[in-house]
Amino acid sequence: MTDNKLQYASMRSIGAYIPEKILTNADFEKMVDTSDEWIVKRTGIKERHIAKDNEYTSDMAVKASEIAIQRAGLENSDIDLVICATVTPDYFNMPSTACIISAKLGIKNVQAFDVSAACSGFVYGLSIAKAFIESGMKKNVLVIGAEKFSSIVDYSDRSTCILFGDGAGAAVISVTDDKNEAIIDIHASADGSYADFLMTPAPGSVNPASCEVIEQGLQYVKMKGNETFKLAVKTLTKDVKEILKKNKIAVEDIDFFVPHQANYRIIKAVGDSLKMSPEQTVKTVHKYGNTSAASIPMAINDIYEEGKLKYGDTMLLDTFGGGLTWASAILPFAGK
Ligand code: COA
Repeated sequence: MTDNKLQYASMRSIGAYIPEKILTNADFEKMVDTSDEWIVKRTGIKERHIAKDNEYTSDMAVKASEIAIQRAGLENSDIDLVICATVTPDYFNMPSTACIISAKLGIKNVQAFDVSAACSGFVYGLSIAKAFIESGMKKNVLVIGAEKFSSIVDYSDRSTCILFGDGAGAAVISVTDDKNEAIIDIHASADGSYADFLMTPAPGSVNPASCEVIEQGLQYVKMKGNETFKLAVKTLTKDVKEILKKNKIAVEDIDFFVPHQANYRIIKAVGDSLKMSPEQTVKTVHKYGNTSAASIPMAINDIYEEGKLKYGDTMLLDTFGGGLTWASAILPFAGK
């Protein structure tokens, strides 16, 4: 804190970008041995959006960020930290996608870096923004979740290809001295002993790019779906109950429960165990699929654009992803 004055971090705005092209379950019926009935019953997904060949993660992130910055009533030059959560960066090693986004937005001479926490990346990013702001180091942090997941999907593997989509969401997290606007709490955790549940084996120092790597398809996402599913339900239910209890917040005090959109059965299992009503629970998985780090900000943007999310509404976020990583957050929406 600076000058002994309490400073809080608040979510001042939200924005998103959804690519135009849609892949429906009927499209997948022509590509792999699957059916609309199986996909809807097991996942709740009906369609997902896919970026164009020449539309990259940074391009989608820039479009979402421009909306978020404009809705915050700020100029691009007011942003003093850019965090991009992604596992599908423009380039796998360097530069970071956050650096490319900063350049495209004309944001110069500010810190910019990527966060690699898979589907939990946006909430991890929020926790970093909160710490930077509360310590007095930054004033307006752009937190982005952006994924071109289609770039690491094997469209011949029916167990994964039907799940994922592309998109981007962004939020401006700003300093405030109004405690009512403050992010209340964020829990973020990881357990690397489950690393092989969800991974892309290449490229990396274990499997550098080579013809063999490509022939074996190691550049594609691999998932132990059923094991991941069970652990996600167990971990999320426990984590969300803990954050509510710790902050003495009742389920009835939550206006919007915004879970990571991976599978409707996970959303329902966690929501039911909390006794969260369908009106409180935000659901977008049917139209976007799993967009990894972009999933939560895209969902928040949906309820904002539908006119449901208002200044002061309390949100409960929860997410789970590769690593394994998971996170939950309680915060009011402080955008106008
Ligand atoms: N169409 C038809 N059948 C399919 C299929 C598809 N797209 N994908 C898998 N199957 C088959 C399997 O081959 C298997 O067949 P078998 O019994 O003959 O071997 C059967 O369906 C059951 O597979 P299983 O993996 O046990 O299904 P599931 O009920 O666990 O559903 C997922 C699969 C992927 C939808 C589910 O496990 C899931 O959502 N997992 C978690 C995803 C997630 O949260 N990811 C991490 C966070 S981002």
